[in-house]
Amino acid sequence: MENNAPTPPESPRPAAASIDTATGQEAAPELSSERVKHIFATIAKKYERFNAISSFGSYKLWLAGMMKQADIQPTDDVIDIAGGTGDVAFTVARAKHPAHIQCTDLVDEMLDVARAHRSCGAGGDVPMDFEVVDAQEIPYESESYDALTMAYGIRNMPKRQQALSEMYRVLKPGGSFTCLEFSTPPNPVWRGLYHFYLKHLIPFWGGLITGDRDGFVYLSRSIKAFPDQRQFAAMLEEAGFTDVQWKNYTGGIAAVHTARKPQ
Ligand SMILES: C[S@@+](CC[C@H](N)C(=O)[O-])C[C@H]1O[C@@H](n2cnc3c(N)ncnc32)[C@H](O)[C@@H]1O
Repeated sequence: MENNAPTPPESPRPAAASIDTATGQEAAPELSSERVKHIFATIAKKYERFNAISSFGSYKLWLAGMMKQADIQPTDDVIDIAGGTGDVAFTVARAKHPAHIQCTDLVDEMLDVARAHRSCGAGGDVPMDFEVVDAQEIPYESESYDALTMAYGIRNMPKRQQALSEMYRVLKPGGSFTCLEFSTPPNPVWRGLYHFYLKHLIPFWGGLITGDRDGFVYLSRSIKAFPDQRQFAAMLEEAGFTDVQWKNYTGGIAAVHTARKPQ
């Protein structure tokens, strides 16, 4: 896999325990948690359209890449973190046919859409459960799951290092971690164009199509404030994960990080 993110600053400041997810600056966790609950409860029913726009139409392509990278076996009990309307969980069900999937999210309105898809047959015969869970304080026993998936979740969490430690805790030894997230294009020209697009076009275009400009302004800001590929890899290592790797998609606009809890 390619590990070609920009080199981090020479003396990175230690990560704050809690940040404002729109700026990356230290802040009380309630600021981001309340904002994120409000945004996702409000857009839940139109989220899938929002997602297609916010991933620049590439969501399915990146999700297919995520499935190729994810080490998930038919006997596995899988937890999907920040599962939203269930797209990752249903895709895992189709692609990997695991023994069980626990689809979790902070916002019940998002999971209601997932439950509605499920009642129409999504996920096929793979056993699935849906539960409201804050990934920063996961209410499950340690070493419960064989594999963990998460797409576009960690960027929205103010206590990111704590969330990653919680994900590490609930994985069994040897368990796999797969995370899809917006990231930082290593090429400066592509990065400049992308940041221009994020700042000026995404709020306008997204707002026009969904009527929710604020959600897209937040999206743009949170993407720019999120650690780059190498910095996020370092956060995974700090949480205890090993074999941390990533693969860039669309020139690094998105990246899938994979890691493992040691045996
Ligand atoms: C952009 S959506 C991604 C949903 C889904 N993974 C997908 O790929 O479509 C981000 C999700 O993260 C959830 N979220 C934000 N903070 C969370 C937290 N602390 N714990 C669990 N879920 C959280 C939101 O409620 C929202 O459903």
